[in-house]
Amino acid sequence: MNTHGVGVRTPDVLVLGAGAAGLMAAFTAAQRGKRVTVLDHSPEIGRKILISGGGRCNFTNLEIKPERFISQNKHFVRSALSRYKPADFLSLLTKHRIAWHEKKLGQLFCDNSARDIVDMLLAECAAAGVTVLPGTRITRIGRAETFRVETSAGTFVSPNVVLATGGLSIPKIGATGFAYDVARQFGVPVVMPAPALVPLVFDRDEDAWVRTLAGVSLPVKATCGKVSFEEALLFTHRGLSGPALLQISSYWQAGQPIQLDLLPGQNCEALLSGLKVARGKMRGPAALSRWLPQRLAHELAQRHAPDRPVVEWSDKTIRALAQAIHKLEVYPTGTEGYYKAEVTRGGIDTRALSSKTMQVEAVPGLYVVGEAMDVTGWLGGYNFHWAWASGYAAGVAL
Ligand code: FDA
Repeated sequence: MNTHGVGVRTPDVLVLGAGAAGLMAAFTAAQRGKRVTVLDHSPEIGRKILISGGGRCNFTNLEIKPERFISQNKHFVRSALSRYKPADFLSLLTKHRIAWHEKKLGQLFCDNSARDIVDMLLAECAAAGVTVLPGTRITRIGRAETFRVETSAGTFVSPNVVLATGGLSIPKIGATGFAYDVARQFGVPVVMPAPALVPLVFDRDEDAWVRTLAGVSLPVKATCGKVSFEEALLFTHRGLSGPALLQISSYWQAGQPIQLDLLPGQNCEALLSGLKVARGKMRGPAALSRWLPQRLAHELAQRHAPDRPVVEWSDKTIRALAQAIHKLEVYPTGTEGYYKAEVTRGGIDTRALSSKTMQVEAVPGLYVVGEAMDVTGWLGGYNFHWAWASGYAAGVAL
């Protein structure tokens, strides 16, 4: 007996972390006859699910493709994604009579509330006989022939441990680097974690103008290296955000510039030349605000256009202004960090895992699922889909 008066418990599978991936792995294994216990230090199960998608949980995407996941080991996701599809998750929703809708770009949300998803996962766990223990602090993990896990709820001994404690994003709701610590303890490499799907900060004096436009938003094409996203951009009082920027942040490395096309799909040079030919008397701010939000138009005109009517502009001036609008280069100085990041990129190195079972090749019985590993999906339901697909892959293998 331990100090809490509870004897050593011996489940077939011990899942650490009762988030999306951990619960999926737990009930999938239990449905196949395993005795499964899930531990989580948070007193409330599924807090991240509850705040996701603005409270409606963007739980998957109809356009799931391996290329939309970032990992140092880019083919790793293929096997699990091919065995657990958006339709598989939708059939679970149908079984639980949960209504959903597509918002845009294949993104699927609950009609009602993210609570439906948490309740569904817990109902599946209950039906399969999974024991879920919230509010349980894990103090030590050891391994001889089996794993021995010491916790505030007593000692657990099990041949299988599933690491499902996620990444570092949003520490105030319980995110920790626990999975990375356990990985390092067992000699499993970790790809340097960093905030991703995160607003970017512009602290250089030259970029002070960016921060003066807080609140302005517009559709753009944002490019970093060879990757581009065409979606909305939002200026904030610290820099830039909005879906286009959040997406590109997952690919951005410190020191790299980001290129913004502020008029994607249009030809700014032709538009301005048209104004000149029409003998436009208007000046830069008025001309540009025909196509761009007024405050942004004003700022760009001040920085890149002469203070004369458009009709007096040279072709060279027009070309240079068009270039500034289609290829505006900005230099982020950092990110808003884990307090604002939707996910963590990097994590447990997938080259150490079986892509079929999620088991650590060198440590039989140790599995990793969800965001704890070096797999980061695009914005729009991709990260939850990875939690379901990796959780399922481990669950059927356990
Ligand atoms: P997750 O973080 O969900 O669960 C880990 C669990 O482990 C938690 O319950 C935590 O309490 C527990 N834990 C951590 N450390 C522990 C320790 N030391 N001991 C015991 N327990 C511990 N994705 C998406 O696809 N669509 C969306 O709409 C959104 N929206 C969204 C909004 C916000 C604000 C955030 C922060 C994130 C999203 N995401 C998202 C991302 C998505 O929530 C995320 O990728 C998944 O929840 C990852 O699931 P996991 O189960 O891997 O980790």
